[in-house]
Amino acid sequence: MKLNTALAGLLAVIEGTAIAQADTQSVLQAVLGSSESSPVPSLSRRRPNILFIITDDQDLQLNSMAYTPLTAKHLRDKGTAFANHFVTTSLCCPSRVSLWSGRLAHNTNVTDVSPPYGGYPKFVERGFNDNFLPVWLQQAGYDTYYTGKLFNAHTVENYDSPHVNGFNGSDFLLDPYTYAYLNATFQRNHDPPVSYEGQHTTDVITEKALGFLDDALEGDRPWFIALAPISPHSNVDPARLNGGEVSFSAPIPLERHRHLFEGVQVPRTEHFNPDEPSGVSWIQNLPKQNESVVEYHDHFYRSRLRALQGVDELVDAAVTRLEESDQLDNTYIIYTSDNGFHIGQHRLPPGKTCGFEEDIRVPFFIRGPGVAEGMVQNAVTTHIDLAPTFFQLAGIPTRDYFDGTPIPISPSSKVTRHEHVTVEYWGKGVAEGAFGGIGPSGSNMIGNHTYKSVRLIGEGYNLYYSVWCNNEHELYDLSTDPYQLHNLYPLISRANSTEPRILGRRLSDAISRLDALLLVLKSCVGINCIEPWNVLQPDDSVRTLRDALDVEYDSFYHQQPAVSFDWCDAGYVIEAEGPQVALTRHGLNWDIWT
Ligand SMILES: *[C@@H]1O[C@H](CO)[C@@H](O)[C@H](O)[C@H]1NC(C)=O
Ligand SMILES: *[C@@H]1O[C@H](CO)[C@@H](O)[C@H](O)[C@H]1NC(C)=O
Ligand SMILES: *[C@@H]1O[C@H](CO)[C@@H](O)[C@H](O)[C@H]1NC(C)=O
Ligand SMILES: *[C@@H]1O[C@H](CO)[C@@H](O)[C@H](O)[C@H]1NC(C)=O
Ligand SMILES: *[C@@H]1O[C@H](CO)[C@@H](O)[C@H](O)[C@H]1NC(C)=O
Ligand SMILES: *[C@@H]1O[C@H](CO)[C@@H](O)[C@H](O)[C@H]1NC(C)=O
Repeated sequence: MKLNTALAGLLAVIEGTAIAQADTQSVLQAVLGSSESSPVPSLSRRRPNILFIITDDQDLQLNSMAYTPLTAKHLRDKGTAFANHFVTTSLCCPSRVSLWSGRLAHNTNVTDVSPPYGGYPKFVERGFNDNFLPVWLQQAGYDTYYTGKLFNAHTVENYDSPHVNGFNGSDFLLDPYTYAYLNATFQRNHDPPVSYEGQHTTDVITEKALGFLDDALEGDRPWFIALAPISPHSNVDPARLNGGEVSFSAPIPLERHRHLFEGVQVPRTEHFNPDEPSGVSWIQNLPKQNESVVEYHDHFYRSRLRALQGVDELVDAAVTRLEESDQLDNTYIIYTSDNGFHIGQHRLPPGKTCGFEEDIRVPFFIRGPGVAEGMVQNAVTTHIDLAPTFFQLAGIPTRDYFDGTPIPISPSSKVTRHEHVTVEYWGKGVAEGAFGGIGPSGSNMIGNHTYKSVRLIGEGYNLYYSVWCNNEHELYDLSTDPYQLHNLYPLISRANSTEPRILGRRLSDAISRLDALLLVLKSCVGINCIEPWNVLQPDDSVRTLRDALDVEYDSFYHQQPAVSFDWCDAGYVIEAEGPQVALTRHGLNWDIWT
């Protein structure tokens, strides 16, 4: 570092000021940047590329990742797995719009898969087509590409009114053929839709993905590519859409994977088709499934694992292509799903839309510069954190209205952590498969399925608390009840020494805190979604549930309005959603937070 010091000294003399030791390297780089023989890395090192792979309805809890060896090899072993990664709305379109916009569904108001409450038309109507991740990345100098499913209700009729913005190259799956494994329709850039009748959707996507990857690798700007195969989502036959009710059958694997996993069954955990019913009333009323239904669900499970093999090969093909390029070391690769999935747990037919672990936990793997290899990270993270994470990776300043915070991609990341996940849902639940007719008069739609929840994982506690639109409540202590079979909420009035405790406090004390937290989270914006306790107690004295449970705050929390609903609505209709505003504590006094 002799030259370094000498040069710094020289410059200091020239400038007439002392240059701090830490600056010498950058001064040297600035001075020597163009010198061919300089051993100093270029200052203008290209910003990293991002390859984002998002599957459809892939569970974490049912162990799907144990059946994708290539993804494990490339991403789990070479990267970090986030063991506590959650979605905030367990339904494709709302979850995806939140992911691409960095906002919770109550802030996008895209809460369903189709109009009037959701789908591509609602995304456009709400202005997000001009204001979402690919647009921002392009503005920041990235080339952006997408292939696969973007949103529901993005159709052969409306794909050009308007076209999706923000992508240098795109090839979208369109409804009603999105989930037709053997008759997909894709729509490339501004071209008309093309039918791929007879070809398997995952093979088609793989070819398109590699094409975009080649385009991106040839360009001279950093790039972002999203690959969104529909596996392992259920197959939906467009010919059977006419009656209004969508019929979901087991996914269709590629021919070469049809024979795999013979004899593999849905894990027989305690909550699989349990003898005792549990949960809120509509779950309690589900009948125990007979042997033929259970056999069918095992078949459904195997079909999903088989259908995922095509995705596993897609991951392998994409990573291999990157390895052959000179850009692997400057590329982050992220793998996740839009929501989770259950099959038979709590006696439920296949599906998502609930707040159970199966539905809200999803796989999340990241590999890339500075990311630890083969590590498991336990920080609580969500899809709302992804837009801020991509911004951080791309060196773009974050935005005040983001409801999330960058995830700690490396063990040394200095980022704001949170212990909670906001979970919200509006409208109808959906049951899939041949025995999905659990709704009114055999329908596979479950009405009155609006709820607010909070999932909390902190030091010494592991909780799920929810309020449904019929004002039923659930509280599960997952540290003693990992399968969510024992709803503690009804025990709240059992005021005796056998009452279950949360962190040593009585249920009513714990629930008063959870209610206040949920009241803030259900309408929060920006930083208040990341640091909700600060809304309740703005003096920074409380950062966690444990802090809030201090007896000193009992009377404050017991005076909070409780989360409740006035009626069950199909969308985010504020008038239906009870109290909106929590009390704020200033020292010993409190007033209303507005
Ligand atoms: C990608 O699109 C952006 C925005 O339109 C444009 O500035 C950029 O040049 C494009 N990149 C390529 C490789 O065409
Ligand atoms: C496949 O999709 C096309 C439209 O893209 C449709 O015309 C055709 O009938 C479909 N084939 C089958 C077997 O459903
Ligand atoms: C099992 O349950 C399904 C769904 O309720 C029903 O359709 C079927 O007939 C039952 N099978 C037997 C053998 O009872
Ligand atoms: C929703 O709940 C109301 C009672 O609050 C009931 O009248 C209605 O039938 C329910 N709707 C569905 C679709 O279950
Ligand atoms: C206390 O609660 C237990 C169940 O948790 C119940 O069996 C018992 O009767 C209760 N005792 C009193 C005195 O209420
Ligand atoms: C959300 O959208 C629905 C449907 O357009 C509308 O009725 C509702 O008022 C909106 N909610 C909010 C909070 O703007």
